[in-house]
Amino acid sequence: MNENLRIAVVGATGVVGSEVLSSLFDRDFPAENLTVLASDRSEGEELAYGEETLEVEKASADAFRGIGLVLFATPAAVSRTLAPAAQAAGAWVVDASSAFRADGNVPLVLPGFNSEVLGASFKGRIVAVPSAVTTALVTVLEPLRQAFGVAQVQVTALMGVSSAGQQGVRELEQQTAALLSGREPESHVFPHRVAFNLLPQVGSFMANSPWTEEEAGWTLEAARLFAPKGEVPVVAGTAVQVPSFYGHGVSVHVRLRQPAPVEQARAALKASPSLKVLDSPGEKIYPMTSLVTADPSVHVGRLRSFPQAPEWLSLFAAVDNAGRGAALNLVEAGLRLAERPA
Ligand SMILES: NC(=O)c1ccc[n+]([C@@H]2O[C@H](COP(=O)([O-])OP(=O)(O)OC[C@H]3O[C@@H](n4cnc5c(N)ncnc54)[C@H](OP(=O)(O)O)[C@@H]3O)[C@@H](O)[C@H]2O)c1
Repeated sequence: MNENLRIAVVGATGVVGSEVLSSLFDRDFPAENLTVLASDRSEGEELAYGEETLEVEKASADAFRGIGLVLFATPAAVSRTLAPAAQAAGAWVVDASSAFRADGNVPLVLPGFNSEVLGASFKGRIVAVPSAVTTALVTVLEPLRQAFGVAQVQVTALMGVSSAGQQGVRELEQQTAALLSGREPESHVFPHRVAFNLLPQVGSFMANSPWTEEEAGWTLEAARLFAPKGEVPVVAGTAVQVPSFYGHGVSVHVRLRQPAPVEQARAALKASPSLKVLDSPGEKIYPMTSLVTADPSVHVGRLRSFPQAPEWLSLFAAVDNAGRGAALNLVEAGLRLAERPA
């Protein structure tokens, strides 16, 4: 790593931003080269960085002067305004929001899957990373695609409330405490009570569409990521907000291009360095969101197939949404970009 590199983390006080700081600390990135930015609500707050503290500054176009790499862990509307300002200031930019994922001028990069894009030439200096569920899906599908081809994917994503950031976490805490003490819970972040409930809605619905933006994002991002590999599987499914805090579970049915005996599918998944296969149902070993926190691997297991439809494979995966599903993608892509010549 270039020791003169200066990094700014925008959204450093949030769920993803705090994971970005942990990941930079784990890589011994020096505190003095780090700028932490957030909204004016957090200006002056102090964030722990190992033994040191970092003072939060208000994010603005001026804050990017002299910064080589800016990592955005902010709502899409904030990224849309500030990422171009960071680019104009000469920084490399990686964004974790949905602001640029559909923008054909902005590369969509999943480190470990298509990292080569980070070394190739592209317009501008902004790169987007996919959503946490797309990260899990693509990581699981790629070894299956290579071994058998992938035609179609049906998904049910069971998403912890941290998908809605710090406010989502607080709302589940408050609703749970209210219900357990006989009070009426209030819903501000989620459209209905999420405590002791399952909501088949994560985020907003698309305009004039029965699909949520989250669900439509999987289809679009998988298409963008897989297209250069010569295959665009149809990916569709339902996002469900579940009353757990961290981690997403993803139930997946894949139609492969040829029959895949479970043993062969398991061997293909085991060969991927980005996956951990937990698949001994007799011993009650399978992926669980409680196991995946702080693990940079996507977990996969519960592999099943049916004699009547041998080209279909069923499995369950789990991902640390804030870590592997966002912060690690930001940091790994960003550090690679920062190695490019200015
Ligand atoms: N959570 C996940 O599982 C996940 C996974 C993949 C991608 N993402 C994406 O990552 C982004 C961040 O998500 P999150 O879960 O970390 O959200 P979060 O916990 O709500 O954090 C949002 C961060 O953005 C900052 N922010 C808000 N408005 C701002 C403004 N006007 N100017 C500067 N900073 C501002 C907040 O600062 P204050 O504290 O001052 O409000 C906070 O630091 C979102 O786009 C999300 O879609 C999240």
